[in-house]
Amino acid sequence: MANDLNTTFTFLNGRTVHRIGYGAMRLTGQPRNFGPYANWQGGIELLQRARDLGVTHIDTARAYGPHDNEKLIADALVDEHGNYGEMFIASKGGVEKTAASIRRDTSAETMKRHLAESLASLRTDKIELYYVHSPDGVTPISESVAALEEMRQAGKIDMIGLSNVSRSQVEEALRVAPIAAVQNRYSTADARDEALEDTIDWLNDQRIAFVPHGPLGANPMKQGAAVDPGQALRTLLARAPNVLVIPGTTTIAHLENNAAALAPLYARGSDHLGSGMANDHGTAVRP
Ligand SMILES: NC(=O)c1ccc[n+]([C@@H]2O[C@H](COP(=O)([O-])OP(=O)(O)OC[C@H]3O[C@@H](n4cnc5c(N)ncnc54)[C@H](OP(=O)(O)O)[C@@H]3O)[C@@H](O)[C@H]2O)c1
Repeated sequence: MANDLNTTFTFLNGRTVHRIGYGAMRLTGQPRNFGPYANWQGGIELLQRARDLGVTHIDTARAYGPHDNEKLIADALVDEHGNYGEMFIASKGGVEKTAASIRRDTSAETMKRHLAESLASLRTDKIELYYVHSPDGVTPISESVAALEEMRQAGKIDMIGLSNVSRSQVEEALRVAPIAAVQNRYSTADARDEALEDTIDWLNDQRIAFVPHGPLGANPMKQGAAVDPGQALRTLLARAPNVLVIPGTTTIAHLENNAAALAPLYARGSDHLGSGMANDHGTAVRP
């Protein structure tokens, strides 16, 4: 079916973001995305190159490192006035990570503490989008979201997101607070999940963004894309207008390849993603 491919998505609160973002998780110590990224200066240069290409949506989490990924983003992208400018930073709380373990804790108290730590690491007073990283299976999602809603009312975040959730959890959360984005695993490399397909359409109807994680089908603990990156990203963007892509990479060459693979899709196709994305006119894509 034909699908008008818009370059941007506008959240219900009026904030508009480019649909092509960057997932920063791999700019961490390896293995297990634990500890600081070994090539700190290289990470700064990659994030700044992303910004220069017009990639403004940067996805991170308190758990990446922990803390180190958010600190790297701050070193790269906080400007001389102490602001992120046009950058759109999304982070997550609710996962505790050590050298040996990963533990989910999405209790209200932990969500608030993690958000405070993310604000400090990102060196900002407010984060535009903050997700419940992964429900812990004990805390009702309504409780985690109520804690973030309190923080939103206090001006510490603009929008609340949910990651690794079912549609019923999104519905439960919506009874407590507005939800701006859902981030679940989804790629052309993964087996088709009809419930998730329906959820993406339902989220689109609600004007809630869907942010596929692992958009290139990669194993989060292993290096390498599972599918052709350009083709995979084009397919995801054509899936629905609420899909925002956040491919991860540790190389500037791959970052540029991913941007270049998408540039021709946009009106006035340009090899500079920033100028190619500067308008909101869609090019019809016929899969
Ligand atoms: N919410 C969650 O629970 C969750 C879980 C996992 C991930 N995420 C988010 O999703 C983001 C993306 O996921 P991901 O990084 O795991 O996987 P991905 O985007 O599916 O794939 C990343 C892998 O693909 C390779 N790659 C990227 N562009 C390439 C290109 N043009 N040519 C060849 N190889 C290429 C990268 O290797 P090179 O470094 O060599 O380019 C990297 O190993 C993460 O950064 C994170 O922000 C969220």
